[in-house]
This record gives sequence, C-alpha cells and structure tokens, in this order.
Amino acid sequence: MSGPVALSVAADGIARIAVDNPPVNALSHPVRRALWDAVEAAEADRAVRLILLAAEGRTFPAGADINEFHAKPQDLWLPDLCDRIEACAKPVVAVLHGTALGGGFELALAAHYRLAAEDAQVGLPEVTLGLLPGAGGTQRLPRLAGGAAALEIMLGGRPVDAAQAQRLGLLDRVVRGDLSEAARAYARELLAADAGPRRTRDSRAGLRDTRAYMAAIRHHRAWLSDAPVPAPEKIVDCVEAALLLPFETGLAFERAAFEDCVTSDASHALRHAFLAERRAAKIPGRGSAAPRPVQRLGLAGGDPGLAAAALEAGLAVTLIAPDPEAATAEVAGHCAGVSAQGIPGDEAQVARLARLSATSDPAALAGADLVIAGRAQAGEALAHLSPEAVLAVAGAAAARGGGRVAGLYLPPAAEGGRLAEVLVAPETSPETAATLFAALRRLGRVALRCAGGPVGPAMSAAMLRAAGDMLLRGADPYRIDDALRGFGFALGPYERLDRDGQAAQAGALGVALARRGWTGRGAGRGVYRYDREAEPRVEDPEVLALLRALQAEGGRPQRSLSGDEIVQRMMAAAANAGAKLVDAGVVLRPSDVDVAMMLGQGFPRWRGGPMMLADQTGLLAVKRTLDILSEENPAFWAPAPLFAELIKNGRRFADLNGG
Ligand code: 3HC
Repeated sequence: MSGPVALSVAADGIARIAVDNPPVNALSHPVRRALWDAVEAAEADRAVRLILLAAEGRTFPAGADINEFHAKPQDLWLPDLCDRIEACAKPVVAVLHGTALGGGFELALAAHYRLAAEDAQVGLPEVTLGLLPGAGGTQRLPRLAGGAAALEIMLGGRPVDAAQAQRLGLLDRVVRGDLSEAARAYARELLAADAGPRRTRDSRAGLRDTRAYMAAIRHHRAWLSDAPVPAPEKIVDCVEAALLLPFETGLAFERAAFEDCVTSDASHALRHAFLAERRAAKIPGRGSAAPRPVQRLGLAGGDPGLAAAALEAGLAVTLIAPDPEAATAEVAGHCAGVSAQGIPGDEAQVARLARLSATSDPAALAGADLVIAGRAQAGEALAHLSPEAVLAVAGAAAARGGGRVAGLYLPPAAEGGRLAEVLVAPETSPETAATLFAALRRLGRVALRCAGGPVGPAMSAAMLRAAGDMLLRGADPYRIDDALRGFGFALGPYERLDRDGQAAQAGALGVALARRGWTGRGAGRGVYRYDREAEPRVEDPEVLALLRALQAEGGRPQRSLSGDEIVQRMMAAAANAGAKLVDAGVVLRPSDVDVAMMLGQGFPRWRGGPMMLADQTGLLAVKRTLDILSEENPAFWAPAPLFAELIKNGRRFADLNGG
C-alpha cells in the first residue's frame, strides 16, 4: 500500500498501520480514507491478531487538518473513523510520539490501548482555534480521566506530558528507548494475556464520582458565562452530556456543538491567527538563503527578557552593560525557576546561567554570531561585529549599515512578548534576514518581515489618529476607551498611552489638541479636555482645518458617537492603514498586518486582526464608511486604492495572503 498510510503485517500477526503525512501527520481527507481502508484490511486479514496504530516522522497526528475547516467536511468524517477504530474486532494499540494533539489524540482515545514515548505530549488544543474536540474527545476523555481533568485539558488547551497523562489514566504505558520495539513487546504481552478490544465508550472510570464531576461543571460554567468565544461554554456542555447522556447521544450532541463552533466568526478568526503566524515566516525568494548558525547572542542595551529566552533556548549570551552585575541579576530575574534573590532552583538553571557573561566592554561582542543592540549602542556594536555575524538594531525605524544589518521592533512586554518585527533595509542581505528569522523563532518569537518601518506602531498611530479625529468632533475619550475594550482590547487607546507613559508621543494631533486647550495632567487620556475659547495655534494644516470647522460650528459639532460607531470607525481606519502598508510593500501580505496587531498591539485574537475583520465585514461596507468620513477629512480617511481594486475584482484581503 502506498500513500499517506502504510499497512504491514509481521509474521507474529502484529500489524502496523502508520500515518505518513508530513510535516505533522494532520488527518486530512486522504489520510482518513487511507486509515479507514487500512483498518478494514487489517481486520479482515486472518493473519492479523493485533493492530499497532503509529506514525512516521516527527509526531503522531497533531490534529485534524486545519486547512479543511473552511469548506464543508468531505465524507469520511474523523468521528466516524474514530468509531470505526473503536469498533474494530481486533485489539488496536495507539503508539504515540511527538505531539498527539486534537483529532490525533482523539484517534488514540478511540484505540483500545495507548502506549507513548516518555517525551511524547498529548492534548486537545481545539479551544485555541475556537473549536471543541469534535471526534469524540469530549465524550471519551472524561470517561477515562473524569470531568475535572477533562475540563482542565480541553479548556486550557495546553498539552500534557506522558507521565502526567499516564497518571490521569490516559496512557497504559510510557516507554523509553526504541518506540517500535517497545510497542511490539507490549503487543506481545497483550496477546499473551489474551487481551481483546477494550472500548473507551464502555469505560465508567471517570464517571463514577458524579458529585465531583458536576462540581467541576458548575465551577467552569460560572466563570465562562461571558466568554466572547462560544467554544469553551460548549465544551462544558459536552462534558456534562458525557455524564448524563448515552454515549451515542453524547456524540451527536458533540457533533452539533462542533458545527456551531466551526462556523462561528471567532473560530474563523482564531484559525486565521494560527495560519497567519506561520505564514509570516514565509519569505518569497528566501529559499536560497540559508540561515547562519547562531550559538552566541550578544546583547547591548537589549531587553533582559530576550537574554533569558536565549539562555532557555540553549544559546550563550554576552551582555554589554555599564553595570554588568546589575544586568546579570536582572536577566536572572527573568529566568523561570530563579528566585527573587537570583538563586537558581535546580541544576538546569545553574547550567543556563553559566552560559551568561556580562561586561561593560563592547569588544566582547566580537565573539557573537548575532548581536541585538539598542539604537545608542548600534555604532559600537557594528565596529566590533565579527565578519560572519549579523546585527539587529532594536528600535530603529530602518537600520543602515550594510548587508549584515537589520532593524528590529519588539513590542512592549505587556503585549505578550511573542512578536519581533524584522525591519529589512534595501541592502539587508537575504542571509541576514534568514538568520534573524531562525534565531528569533528559537527565542520563541513570531518574526515578521517589514520593509520601511515597523507595522505595529504605524497601525497604532493610525488608530490614534482616528480616535483623535473623533475627539475633535466631540467624542469622549473615556467612551472611546470603553468601546475598544468592549470590542476586546485589554485597554483602550488612551489607556494604553497612559500605561506606556506616552502622552507626549501621541502624535501631532495629540499635541495640537493639548495646545488647543484640551488640557490635562499630561498623560494619555488625561490630556484631552475641551476648551472652546482657546485660539488654535496649530501648524498641521489638516488639524487646523478641523479645528476651524469646529469653531465655525460653535464648538462640539457632532452628536456623540455610539460604541458601535466608534468601533466601526477605528476598524475602518485600521484596515485602511493596513491596506496602505500592503500597497507600499511594507508587509508581504494583509495577514502580516493582522499578526502585528494581534501579537504586538493588543488586538483581540478572536477577532482575527483588522484585515480579516474587514473581509468579514465586507470590503464594500468598509469602503463606504471611509468614503463618508473622507468627505470631512479626506487626507486621513480617503480609502487606499487597494479597496477599489479588490472590490472591482470580487476579491478580499485574504486572496492576497497566498497559501
Ligand atoms: N493542520 C494542518 N497543518 C498543520 C496543523 C494542523 N492541525 N498543525 C500544524 N500544521 C502545519 C503548520 O501550519 C506548519 O505548516 P508550514 O510548515 O507550512 O508552516 C507545520 O505544520 C509545522 O507547524 P509549526 O510551525 O507550528 O511547528 P511546531 O513544531 O512549532 O509545532 C505543533 C508543531 C505543536 C503540532 C503545532 O503545529 C500545533 O500546535 N499545531 C496545531 C495542533 C492543533 O491545534 N490541533 C487540533 C486541530 S483541530 C482538530 O483536531 C479538530 C478535531 O477535534 C475534529
């Protein structure tokens, strides 16, 4: 048999069905079909006494194929395949390695026995995609592990290591060494003991303590009642159904709930976010440029969190700081497991910190493969850079200094610390970009390529500008913050300025407003207090025109805006700014703008970013909003030409994302 699944039968009657669908053995339609056929064939083969269900490559299937969810599922559904495996007349043993996640773990739960490599992880992360386990996971997991553990696993979405999974009753055996050999030995044991199929659907182990089970349901239901994404609440409903309903009815309940989730806007957005983050790393034309190996990172004026992440990733770190001792203590404070006094908790921590050296002498950077320097330290860093090394200048709008230099924008740590915008200048070599991408990924960052300036700050500035425009027309800054928080941001735009202490950088409009008499304590939201008597002393002609219009209308000209109108304008402004960045080639694709916003500017992930949202709203509707607003302030609101071009051709931003 060739294709994504292979079946082989050994002389002792142990069959092996192995999935081979790189990179992560996702359970796409051809894989499901081939698995079904292989199970049927093995069951029908009189020589087969037991079936091992395994996978080649780096992992047991890591889930259903996320790319298939946007279309109607093709017949042979994953739940049916799981049922088929569970119904198999011969014992089926799942052999797990890597990350057995989502539909992959559900496949394993439907098998009769489960064995795993000691470094394997299992989990049901569907909730992170706005989904629930839809192949029987909500019904089988609680039967094995109980309601409380099942809810923790499904609502948390985080994988569980093999030892923990075994303690929870999810794995029968955890093994070291050669997995295939261990699996065959286990199979022989089962055959010797005459162990037949053991169906999870018949298990009651996790359902016995009904009181604890229902307490877990009540606990989770209470704090989920206002969740903006439907999946978590539905997971709780399904787990409750596992206790209360017969297995088949529970499965039907799960299927209906899965359908509701998979078609929800929130799940579309979260799946988009997952794929967009991975797409961001794909740079056309970069194929020929291989990253240089990075073993030693030099940091001059850099973020201590970055140094800690580098140590965690196994790199050696050289810190250049005026007070090396204080800098070392600061980095130690960022390392997990190190006490507030800087004392490492275990041997691994000691080893990690031993790779850190700090000095005030920039010449030490000569030993680094990659240097990340602040703007002020960049010149010095470049002077000491070894000929093979690469320099990233943090905070630089665009870094100059030849092919080995790029800029870097790292959003404030408060935004999650997962994004790094790599600012490539025309002279930055593809090899430099590739090296930075690979190194940043190792540091746990999603790297985003931008040319000509960072994306997040440009987008944020456009949204502040839109907010400023609304302020000028009489909107209340508190209301703007409330509206954006209601939309899903953790903080409104002015609250963010307050947090970051950036009132002074609020842009020309903020300064103009302050001068105009919108006075305050000098921080973010507090700045704006309207005084209609003050004479505008503003140089920006656009702002001046607005202020004159205000005066002509006698002060506050407009009715107050509703929360929905505020959000509509802010999102139109964001999509417009994003379209201009795409047009200008600053980003490679619209989804890069979404990544910058979600990972760097607090945009709610379950909304998918402004470009995805514009697609969901409809580009025509967004353009109409922009057209109306640009009647008053064309310089800011005029729609980017990309809107008309896409609308004319019946296309959306998503069509420009590729792949
Ligand atoms: N479907 C399709 N493609 C997938 C995928 C999936 N479930 N999971 C990963 N991939 C792809 C990625 O898009 C990426 O593609 P690329 O090489 O073209 O960029 C490639 O596999 C490698 O992925 P990562 O870059 O993320 O590799 P890592 O080694 O960092 O991580 C992983 C591997 C832990 C498996 C991670 O990819 C992951 O968490 N995947 C998602 C797991 C998941 O959510 N599974 C549940 C799916 S929903 C489901 O199963 C529904 C069911 O209940 C019915």
